[in-house]
Order: sequence, then C-alpha cells, then structure tokens
Amino acid sequence: MVSQFNPQQQPILEARNLTMHFHTGGALSRKTVKAVQQANLKLYSGRVTALVGESGSGKSTIIRMLARLYTPTDGQIIFRGEDALRDKSRRAALYYRSQVQMIFQDPFSSLNPVHQVKYHLERPLRIHGKARSRAALNDQIDVLLKRVSLTPTEEFAVKYPHQLSGGQRQRVAIARALAVQPEVILADEPVSMLDVSIRMGILNLMAVLRDEQNIAFLYVTHDIASARYFADETLVMYAGFIVEGAGSEDLIQEPKHPYTQLLLSAVPDPARGLRTAEVEVVGEIPSLTSLGAGCPFANRCSRVMEKCKTVMPSVTELSPTRWVRCFLYE
Ligand SMILES: Nc1ncnc2c1ncn2[C@@H]1O[C@H](COP(=O)(O)OP(=O)(O)OP(=O)(O)O)[C@@H](O)[C@H]1O
Ligand code: SF4
Ligand SMILES: [Mg+2]
Repeated sequence: MVSQFNPQQQPILEARNLTMHFHTGGALSRKTVKAVQQANLKLYSGRVTALVGESGSGKSTIIRMLARLYTPTDGQIIFRGEDALRDKSRRAALYYRSQVQMIFQDPFSSLNPVHQVKYHLERPLRIHGKARSRAALNDQIDVLLKRVSLTPTEEFAVKYPHQLSGGQRQRVAIARALAVQPEVILADEPVSMLDVSIRMGILNLMAVLRDEQNIAFLYVTHDIASARYFADETLVMYAGFIVEGAGSEDLIQEPKHPYTQLLLSAVPDPARGLRTAEVEVVGEIPSLTSLGAGCPFANRCSRVMEKCKTVMPSVTELSPTRWVRCFLYE
C-alpha cells in the first residue's frame, strides 16, 4: 500500500518550526496555550504522511495552520519552495487554498443540508474558475462523482446530504476537495466518525488519489493501524511537539521515542508481536498552559534523566528517513 521514497524528491509543502500559541482568558486571567511548538514536517507528491497522537496534542492546530485557517505565531510554511505566508493578498490566499485543500472529520456538518450534492461541487469549480459554462460544470461534476465512485452520477448529483450515508457524504467532501485539482489534501481524522465497515473504502479511495493523481496527503488519525496501512511516513505528536518521524513500518516495528513506545504498547496487534508491559506509565499529560522548558514527556517517561526536566531535546537524525526528539539518542 505504501509508495517508494525518493530522497531526491523535493517536498511540495513544508512546515518549518511552526508554532501556535493561543491566548485565552481575560485581562486578569490571561493564559497562553502552547498548542504547537517548533513543528517541522515535509509532504511529498504521491505520498501520505500520518500524524498521530493523543487528543489535545496539537494535530488539528497543525492542519489548520497548514490550511492557512490559523496564522502561526512563529515559523514558516513553504509551498513549492516559496514562503506561503509572505504574500497576504486575497489572490494569493485563494490560489493557496485551491492547491491545499482540507477534508474535515465530520461529514455531517461539512455539507450544507439545504443544498444538493451538485451545488457543493459547483461552488469551488466556479470560485476557482475551473468551469465557466453550464455544460462544462455538468461534465466536471460527472467526472468528480465518478472519481469518488458515487454512481449513477446523475442520481447522486441531485441528492441532499440527508439522503446520503456518512461514507457517501465523506465521498462528496473528497470530490469537493478534488474539484480544484489540489496538490495537497490535509485530512483531519477523515474516517473517525464513519462506521468501521466503510472506513477502509474511504482510505482506499484516498490511496488511489495519491497514486493516480499524485496528491500529497497529511492524514491525522488516532488509529495507528490505519496509519500503518495507509501512510508512507508517520509522525508522532505529544503535547504540541512532533517527537518522532519515520517510515510507518519502521516506526511500528521499532519505535524509538519513549512516548511512541508507550503509544504502541497500548495497541493490540498480534502481527507486530507487541510487548504490552514494556513501557511504564508514570504521571499525567502536562497542561499546555504551564509547560516548562524541559521535555514535555518527562513526567511520564520511565527513562527520564535530570537534564530532561530543564532542557528540551533537539531533533536527532537517525537516518535520512528517521528522526527523534529525545536525549537518549543525542
Ligand atoms: N482556537 C483555540 N483557542 C484556544 N485553544 C485552542 C484553540 N484550538 C485548539 N486549542 C487548544 O490547543 C490544544 C491542541 O488542540 P488540537 O485541536 O490541535 O488537538 P488535537 O490533537 O487535534 O486533538 P483531538 O485528537 O482531540 O482532535 C488543545 O489544548 C486545545 O484546547
Ligand atoms: S528526553 Fe528524556 S524525558 Fe524526554 S522522552 Fe527522552 S528520555 Fe524521556
Ligand atoms: Mg483534532
């Protein structure tokens, strides 16, 4: 299912030291939520990168920064080798959004209930100037619905969202993202609200789009098994930091970061021969408003050292395709 990595390939979209701090509370109770800190990632055409981590670790915030829905507190977004945040004009934002599309978790709220399927596809086609006449619009709607296997297309085009299943709605959402011929799709838990029996169909559809349309995917999920199946590379997030990145199979077979080891020890997977008692869980997830200067995993880590409590480890490259943020490897 995964594709071959070519080390010469240039990333299509890149996050460099991306950071997002939210300021909450009133004047007297002002707090800063350090949702994402110094996140680096690279997305490649025709490849899927999974982002996994516990709830609240900052996955959606990264996606929203990359989609330019949030303006990062710090860091850069590089699209096709250029700083995507430099040109703040409406035109530049429109172009960026046509190239970098997002699929949301909830297919029930992402479609407008008062409009038929064809309206949801027509809108981006019109806004981004992809079809100008009625006949061209109809042709493209037909192609898009075929692309996501909603056939007969003329029947699906006139359905309302409430007449579709969850999986069919997510297919419409994917068709809508495809309407503008994007280079990148950011998918924030695209199957987590769907029935288990139809999840695989949606993941397989995304894999076909990756292979046949060379789209780069960022796939956010809690489900490590699906990341292994669908993603070429997997990144692990903890308390706002991406702590490890590797080829999905390498990461699952041989997790390096103590947090990844903990995460995987909780996943029953007979094929991997998991050693379930290997990692000792100590302590609680830290509050993102009172993170200290040290490693955020220090209060749970069974291998914590004195310096972990006061200094944040930097990224250590273990190979061209593998890295980790932990003092054990420095
Ligand atoms: N707009 C916002 N204002 C203030 N805090 C926010 C905002 N958006 C997110 N946060 C906080 O940032 C942190 C990261 O949230 P985020 O939604 O990115 O996590 P997540 O990894 O996507 O979680 P989940 O798996 O539950 O979707 C959380 O503590 C969240 O409460
Ligand atoms: S840096 Fe220290 S506390 Fe953090 S994961 Fe590594 S060993 Fe554990
Ligand atoms: Mg989220």
